[in-house]
Amino acid sequence: MPDKRDFLEIPDFSADELYDLLDLAHRMKRGEFRARPLAGKTLAMIFEKSSTRTRVSFEVGTFQLGGHALFLSSRDIQLGRGEPIRDTARVLSRYVDGIMIRTFAHADVVELANFATVPVINGLTDLLHPCQVMADLMTIQESFGTALDGRKVAWIGDGNNMANSWLNAAWRFGFELRLACPPGYEPDRQIFDRARTGATVLLTHDPAEAADGADVVTTDVWASMGQEAEAETRRHAFAGYRVDQDLMARAASDAIFLHCLPAHRGEEVTDEVIEGRASRVFDEAENRLHIQKAILARLMGD
Ligand code: CP
Ligand code: NVA
Repeated sequence: MPDKRDFLEIPDFSADELYDLLDLAHRMKRGEFRARPLAGKTLAMIFEKSSTRTRVSFEVGTFQLGGHALFLSSRDIQLGRGEPIRDTARVLSRYVDGIMIRTFAHADVVELANFATVPVINGLTDLLHPCQVMADLMTIQESFGTALDGRKVAWIGDGNNMANSWLNAAWRFGFELRLACPPGYEPDRQIFDRARTGATVLLTHDPAEAADGADVVTTDVWASMGQEAEAETRRHAFAGYRVDQDLMARAASDAIFLHCLPAHRGEEVTDEVIEGRASRVFDEAENRLHIQKAILARLMGD
């Protein structure tokens, strides 16, 4: 299948291709794209974890592009009873034109993509959440303009799937990324080292140092899906990593606040910040729809 393209991580595309995707997403948001490139096509959406935004935006987005989306919970399909990923990949490829998957192990998504003969899109793994960070980049462009390479982004909190995807984005686009993570909760080492080859990346334990002069301050939950048993330990480890007004005051005067949602007010972010004038979290959530439509059109469209 020589022409098949997957979207498992942001660096699967070149910077030019990513800018094109963002441009298409903005045009879609403005209502300037009326084509139906998914007419007669079906997207299978496998979910092994909960979802509000990813599920609804992919389903609505596929419909708006003329296609049909199938919601496949692992509770209901044979994958959840142990059918191998590689068999699921080959069977689904006989029926559908693309597969979106949200799961735990990133290696499962890689295996799915290796065995599927249709495009595979990563809808979140324990390692990465690329569609979300693409929506975040689109939201940054809405505030600061198209060019991303001059931006300064501060990540406060867990070195999780979102932090790793921010590192990938910094590497591809060449913007400055400062991550403030508690000791023991740093991002993936390989992804971090790779990002440093193409971007200014700082890893610190001090949220103030990360936020200083930033254009964007962003964070995420302290315990991600699958880490529920660690929640209490993490609450202690992350106590100094809350985004509040004092931290936002260290950022640039026109800085924006982003959060992929769902948020835990009073933990990683105060109510004042998420409801405050710098917050763009609902534009960010909306932008999932537009950027994913651009990705679907690019990978699955005629
Ligand atoms: N941000 C995000 O991916 O949200 P869901 O878990 O609701 O899909
Ligand atoms: N880091 C979070 C993101 C949720 C969209 C998680 O994996 O649960």
